[in-house]
Formats: sequence, C-alpha cells, structure tokens
Amino acid sequence: MTQSTQKSSSLSTRHLTGIKELTPADIELILTTAAQFKEVINRSIKKVPSLRDITIANAFFENSTRTRLSFELAEKRLSADTLSFTASSSSVKKGETLSDTINNILAMKVDMVVMRHSSPGAPHFLAKTTKAQIINAGDGTHEHPTQALLDAFSIQEKLGEVGGKKVAIIGDILHSRVALSNIFCLQKLGAEVMVCGPSTLIPRHIDKLGVKVGHNVKEALEWADVANVLRIQLERQQIQYFPSLREYSLYFGINDKLLQSLDKEVVIMHPGPINRGVELDSDVADGKHSIILDQVENGVAVRMAVLYLLAERGQ
Ligand code: CP
Repeated sequence: MTQSTQKSSSLSTRHLTGIKELTPADIELILTTAAQFKEVINRSIKKVPSLRDITIANAFFENSTRTRLSFELAEKRLSADTLSFTASSSSVKKGETLSDTINNILAMKVDMVVMRHSSPGAPHFLAKTTKAQIINAGDGTHEHPTQALLDAFSIQEKLGEVGGKKVAIIGDILHSRVALSNIFCLQKLGAEVMVCGPSTLIPRHIDKLGVKVGHNVKEALEWADVANVLRIQLERQQIQYFPSLREYSLYFGINDKLLQSLDKEVVIMHPGPINRGVELDSDVADGKHSIILDQVENGVAVRMAVLYLLAERGQ
C-alpha cells in the first residue's frame, strides 16, 4: 500500500467524488462494509432500515443501465426514499443549467445526489457549491469510483486479496473513466497495474501514474492475474483511432483461443456494456474465467456500503 492503511470506522470524506480523494483506509472500510451487505442481500429478507430518513436523488445526465439500477436497488435495500431523474425527460432539454437543476432537486429536501454527467469535474463542482452529499456515478472521461470499488471487491472475492496482484486494463484507456478510477484504487490497495491497447487509445504520459504500458495483449495476459477489458467507446471518439473494428478485434480482442494459448489462468472482468466480438468474444465473456456478472452483483453491495458510510459521515 502506498499510504497509511490504519483501520478506520468512518470515511475521511462526506462526498464520493473520485477514488483519488479516498485514502487506502477509506477503500478498505468500503470493501469490508460491502462484504457485510453482500451477506444481507443474499438473505431472504434483503432490506435493512439503515437509511430510513434519508432522501437520495439519482440524477443521470448520461445513459446508464448497470450503475443507475444498481444504485436504485442499493437505496431500496437500505430503505432510503429515492427520486430518479434522467436528463432526456427533464427540463435540461429546455436549457436549464446543471446548478439550477440540482438546486431545484435540493429544494425538495434531498440529502444525497448520485450523479452521472458527461463533464469531468461536474460532481466536484456540486460538492463545493451545494449542501447535499454528492456521489459520482461517472463524470465524462474522468472517474467512475463505484465501478473501481466493485472491481476491487470482485478481485478480492475471487483471489483473496488485491495487494500484490497484477491487473492489466486492456482496451480504450483514453476515453475511459473506469481506467483512471481502477488505476487509483488498485494502486492504493497495493496492486500492480498495466494498461494495454493501441498507442492511439493510451493517454500520453500515463506512465507518470506508475503503471506499465503495453501494446501486445498476449504479453499483457501472460503478465497479469486479472484482465479488466474495457469497451471501445465509439460514442466518445471524434476521430478514427484504429482502421476498423475488425482490425481492433484481430489485434486487441480476447478470444478463447488466445486464453488457451497461455500457460496460466487469467480472471476476466469487464465493466459493461460489452461490445461482443470486438474487445471480448462471447466464449470468453460467458466462459469459466469470467466474473463479469459477479461484478454486477457485487455492485449493489458496494453501493450500499458507500451510501451507508457516507450517510454515517453525516450531513
Ligand atoms: N459499467 C457501467 O457504468 O455501466 P452503465 O453505463 O450501464 O451504468
């Protein structure tokens, strides 16, 4: 671990804007609490009264399936009151600003806002300018902290610990908020990280974050205990970063034949949504090394832990 890991019983922050702002002790506390909530959600009575007096708004200014549903379920399991907001069906379409939208939501006595927004830094701006506790559910190409936390939880569950493990993050690193949050989270927990992809999809100077950089998927898989495979984010790509999807798949896609050619086993992860046949073939996504659906299941427990600990940290 790179910073103090003294056990803590409360978070050092009242917002979750990014993994960068968390201490290793914060992350350990979230993972330990998530393990307790995972037990709870596997009982026949899955609901606890922990957030009974808390109101949470889910403000999604960008599309989401997993993160939004996972937060909504986590909130319900904790007995919070919730309201959900999607930009496509709101007055944002009439030109309302982010501040006005959020301040109107807060005027309804909301305690926490879970927010996804296309602008990097939007949750940090709201954390500074509003009274509510802010949880970043993905801000542009910047951070996706709860994804990194659930990824770390899933690695810990599968391999026993994160510290000392080698994790290769493979694919479109340039446009990925999952990559940056994972790098911060894994390093704070003592893992080694490699990023791998075409040089056009790897940010320049990313090695300054202390990660290895590779461009050969087979070599990355031979090095790694875990491969976290990222989606090619065509919707964020203004220019063409590689000749064709077929060529990307040929050089950077992971298929069963490639995994069979290794003399070791590698845990396969993906934050979803998957471009099947591009970055991952179905036989790998649905195969025995994949923990992709465990990641989704763990997301609910991890988000319950985040909401519970932030609520405890107080208004
Ligand atoms: N992993 C993830 O953030 O998925 P969604 O975009 O569906 O929320």
